[in-house]
Amino acid sequence: MLYLSGIQPSGKIHIGNYFGMIKKMVDSQNDHQSLAFIANYHAMTSVRDGAKLKEMTREAAINFLSVGLDPEKTTFWVQSDVKEVLELYWILSGFTPMGLLNQGHSYKDKTAKGIAANHSLFSYPVLMAADILLFGSEVVPVGKDQIQHVEMARDIAIKFNNEYGEILTIPEYKIDEDVATVPGIDGAKMSKSYNNTIDMFGTEKELEKQCKKIVTDSTPMEEPKEYENCNIYKISKLFLNEDELKDLQVRYKSGKEGYGHFKLYLKDVIWNYFAPFREKREYYMNNPKVVNEILASGADKARNLANERFSLIKEKVGI
Ligand code: ADP
Ligand code: TRP
Repeated sequence: MLYLSGIQPSGKIHIGNYFGMIKKMVDSQNDHQSLAFIANYHAMTSVRDGAKLKEMTREAAINFLSVGLDPEKTTFWVQSDVKEVLELYWILSGFTPMGLLNQGHSYKDKTAKGIAANHSLFSYPVLMAADILLFGSEVVPVGKDQIQHVEMARDIAIKFNNEYGEILTIPEYKIDEDVATVPGIDGAKMSKSYNNTIDMFGTEKELEKQCKKIVTDSTPMEEPKEYENCNIYKISKLFLNEDELKDLQVRYKSGKEGYGHFKLYLKDVIWNYFAPFREKREYYMNNPKVVNEILASGADKARNLANERFSLIKEKVGI
């Protein structure tokens, strides 16, 4: 199967991104053909500072490599280095009904949050469809919020194929129910735009600060506590094995510890989990040439992979 996914370099990467998408891509690279890219064109819809976008694009690439994305196994590039995607975006626009884009909840959510309601934000799903369809992707691992975008890519591909024959592969999204929506420190979906994240690569102090802000009920220390609906527990669950989880449940029920203890425990768990990744990150930060080479060679591979299909598409539409 051909797996493809992308991430926008529009802010710090948090554990929701990690469990919702990045880890799935890293896990799939051993058993599947795997493609991953940094969606910097998409990030232009929300980032207006060129220097900052450049820096965040680089950082996102380094973060991906640090958590185990292996460029020998996964073709890995920056979206804007494969320009064909923009050409396909225009071609696909002609197969995208306005009614389809009008249904987009991401557009509604983002404009409601104050992001400028312009054309690129509105047509964002068409560019995402181009990302997916250019390479013949079969499976797109994403978090729940991106399902609608993959469904739109399917609709657009079907419309194109109805006109020109079975040229485009119809993709499917892949959701892992356990981590479909990682909760933020306030219990709502963790998101860069909600200011409720636990970041993957913050300092230990920052991590502690974020963990301490996790919202809980006010059960006093000496009373047994419910763990099922507790935000600390829900986040801990992502990192712990069964035995460790059972131990934590016992601690919740014991009435000997307060939420403050569980928050500090969670901080240690997260800090240790990402420790090996931090080391790798240090390496890539200090070796920019290595990163440049990986991305350049990834872009070449991606272009080659797209070549045949893209020529056929252009031929069909008469360009
Ligand atoms: P954000 O909401 O923080 O801006 P993005 O939209 O950049 O995150 O998402 C990047 C990827 O991470 C997408 O595949 C998205 O579905 C996934 N993702 C983001 N937040 C979460 C979350 N809280 N739980 C699960 N997956 C998530
Ligand atoms: N829209 C996705 C997000 O915000 C990023 C993205 C762009 C993407 N193109 C893609 C994800 C293609 C999967 C496939 O997370």
